[in-house]
Amino acid sequence: MSNVATLTVNGQTIELPIIESVEGDRGIDIRQLRQKTGCITYDPGYGNTGSCKSAIAYMDGEKGILRYRGIPIEDLATHSSFVETAYLVINGELPTREQLNRTSVQLNDHSLVHEDMQIFYQNFPRASHPMGILSAMVNALRSFYPELIASDKDFEEVYVRLISKIRTMASVSYKISRGHKVEYPRPDYTYCANFLNMMFNTPVKPYILRKELVRALNVFWILHADHEQNCSTAVVRSVGSAQTNIYASISAGISALWGDLHGGANQAVIQMLIDIHEKGVKVKDVIKRAKDKNDPFRLMGFGHRVYKTYDPRAKIMKKNCHDVLDRLNYEDPLLDIAMELEQIAISDPYFIDHNLYPNVDFYSGIMLRAMGIPTNMFTVMFAIGRLPGWIAQWRENMQDAEQRLTRPRQVYSGYTERPYIPIDER
Ligand code: ACO
Repeated sequence: MSNVATLTVNGQTIELPIIESVEGDRGIDIRQLRQKTGCITYDPGYGNTGSCKSAIAYMDGEKGILRYRGIPIEDLATHSSFVETAYLVINGELPTREQLNRTSVQLNDHSLVHEDMQIFYQNFPRASHPMGILSAMVNALRSFYPELIASDKDFEEVYVRLISKIRTMASVSYKISRGHKVEYPRPDYTYCANFLNMMFNTPVKPYILRKELVRALNVFWILHADHEQNCSTAVVRSVGSAQTNIYASISAGISALWGDLHGGANQAVIQMLIDIHEKGVKVKDVIKRAKDKNDPFRLMGFGHRVYKTYDPRAKIMKKNCHDVLDRLNYEDPLLDIAMELEQIAISDPYFIDHNLYPNVDFYSGIMLRAMGIPTNMFTVMFAIGRLPGWIAQWRENMQDAEQRLTRPRQVYSGYTERPYIPIDER
């Protein structure tokens, strides 16, 4: 295979080097393009633009493959824990038993949040969305821990603090939103068990931990741990490219994840299913609207920028969802509606022609609902899972000598030069 691409612009032919990949798309190196031709590339949404070289996650959208550091998502979901997967994503290798134990001890040591942060929580209006609160609180960590600047020396402490505290912060925001007493983390519980306990234990009704739910939560977070250059990760890298601290960079990623087209889809799916269930909207009418070019409505939880086949995470999530509902003996009419929607959509020519299949968000909300997680916390759950990926990608960007300040160009479409007209003459 040739390792140069030739491009002819206005009769002038230039050669552009091709960057080899280990697997998947190769990259045409266009760094000299503007200088040599006076042209830039035009790629809204960056669907054809490689912004970095990365060794963290590999996806094949046609074959439905996802691997973290080379290990298939299916193997991790079957055998690993979220903490072990987070270690892998961030450090590049699976931990030894000793390394994993050390990480668990550190996660416990850093699990408390500064008591002063609770004052912040108390002052958000009651109706605030937990994603807005989470984004603000993660940004605020920089003020509470100014000594930590994620240099090589203290990077481990920074990332462990972030992973540990985000779980505590999320559960505190839930407790405060309900007007309940905050539940502190317990050193004798694992990461996921601790989260469930902090969310649901109350002085009057002790939370009974069920190991199936702890496992299901591990799987849920493993499936979300990284997804290469998705919208929120690209934001984290972009903000970090200005040498912005890790807390502010990740806070920006949380804001990006909040959107309905990205992580907010898990909440939007449930809303769509509730509308069908409670307002008597017919499934076939929902499909009809999704196909109508003149209607902005989309079938939430369907479609993906990269996957043009069934999202491999969605396959695992679907099974995880069924398992949790079975174990809890929980009947949810929304699951029946979701399965009916999927059946109709995957055999409909529109969805087949557009390569639209369920993505990870399609079944995740139903599982979270059965676990007792409130709908407005769904995207927060996604954010906790995605944190290892954001950390790893922020770090990789910082360490990559080829990276520069993110600064795309534009094809200008406004006025050419024109005179200023004084206000009385307009
Ligand atoms: N329902 C109906 N039609 C859809 C859907 C959908 N869910 N998704 C894409 N399409 C159609 C578009 O209308 C468009 O049709 P056209 O070519 O005939 O005009 C075509 O498929 C391509 O759509 P784009 O928006 O260009 O595709 P893009 O790659 O930009 O979008 C996205 C990907 C945003 C995920 C889209 O599929 C979508 O909006 N899905 C619903 C929201 C969702 O589930 N988001 C979660 C994604 S996974 C994640 O972030 C964790």
